[in-house]
Amino acid sequence: MKQTHYNIIIAVLLLVIVGLALNMHSVPKGPKRADALDDPSRKQLLTWTAPDTTDIPFTKNGEMIRYGRELIVHTARYFGPKGSISRAANGLNCENCHIAAGTRPFGNNFSKVTAAYPKYNPRRDQYVSVAGRVNGCMQRSMNGKALDSTSREMKAFIAYFKWIGKGVDKSTPLFGEGTEKLAFLNRAADPQKGKLIFMNNCASCHGSNGAGKLAADSTEYLYPPLWGRYSYNRGAGLFRLSKFASYVKNNMPFGTTYHNPVLTEEQAWDVAAFVDSQPHPPFKEVAKDWPDISEKPYDDPLGPYADTFPEAQHKYGPFPGIIKGELAKSKINRN
Ligand code: HEC
Ligand code: HEC
Repeated sequence: MKQTHYNIIIAVLLLVIVGLALNMHSVPKGPKRADALDDPSRKQLLTWTAPDTTDIPFTKNGEMIRYGRELIVHTARYFGPKGSISRAANGLNCENCHIAAGTRPFGNNFSKVTAAYPKYNPRRDQYVSVAGRVNGCMQRSMNGKALDSTSREMKAFIAYFKWIGKGVDKSTPLFGEGTEKLAFLNRAADPQKGKLIFMNNCASCHGSNGAGKLAADSTEYLYPPLWGRYSYNRGAGLFRLSKFASYVKNNMPFGTTYHNPVLTEEQAWDVAAFVDSQPHPPFKEVAKDWPDISEKPYDDPLGPYADTFPEAQHKYGPFPGIIKGELAKSKINRN
């Protein structure tokens, strides 16, 4: 190739790099209009961008924010089976499900925690504080024990949520909050099909037995377990098919985002059916959930129900028959 060709290629590359850089710098912190998104139903939503960790102040409060973030990223080091504070949890890290320390669209981000709580939680028919919600994940997703709400650790979680959600308004819907509502299949999700998807797309990291892989020092996981005694229990959000499918579609295999999904929605439903058909620890307080049974979500896998659809259909679908009006129209999974 001639020198001029190289020059042209280099010039084009430089333009692309400068263009990307300018584009990145034009993204302001805090909510912004997400008009560029191709999905018409989301066009008008504000996109939330988490503040940068380099902006955490060097104050007493900044120290708590940093500690809260550390607890979210490396929970197991403090509360796992080899935890330095207590053995309150199963060895997962909060970040395993709240991707990138809770900053990712459709990665169970923490944008609205401070703005939205205390929040009515139909699961217990009561208002729940931020501490109460953290303990919900401690007792279910982390299959562990509630933390003392006055502990330094709980205060650190709260400080981090407050910092991360600065300027976020409770009643303004944000792009990427909650979990994405996937289109329903008009059949039951199929654990057999899901097994094949799992073996081809997930087993390389999570293990064909779903047990995950510990990091070298064995205090936390490199690849967290998906079922078995160290996984989330049957009272956890991910034990509901819609939550699992939408989390996986937008976040797995690791590195996947909403903008570059690997699995189709159909594959996400089927792999969810496979993983959630494998053994998960029981949740002891399950009988206290849903005191108003008519509030129970369509895909709560544990009966009884207000309707006459069988437990298997509530767990695997088909869902369209079960769901009524508003819920079917909504774009975001709530509660
Ligand atoms: C196994 C996955 C998993 C793990 C681990 C996990 N969570 Fe969660 N968490 C979820 C899911 C899923 C939701 C949404 C639940 C729902 O909609 O029912 C959630 C919701 C929350 C919420 C409420 C968010 C909101 O905007 O309403 C908070 C706060 C939270 N988690 C904190 C934590 C903390 C702190 C930890 C670690 C101690 C943790 N979670 C560990 C899966 C997990
Ligand atoms: C390249 C390795 C890799 C692959 C492949 C992969 N994962 Fe993961 N997975 C991870 C890592 C790492 C995490 C923890 C993420 C974090 O902490 O940031 C995770 C977390 C999870 C979690 C939440 C935590 C838990 O243990 O419950 C689920 C559920 C999950 N993956 C499901 C899947 C499914 C289903 C597939 C296949 C479609 C898959 N993953 C493929 C690496 C992988």
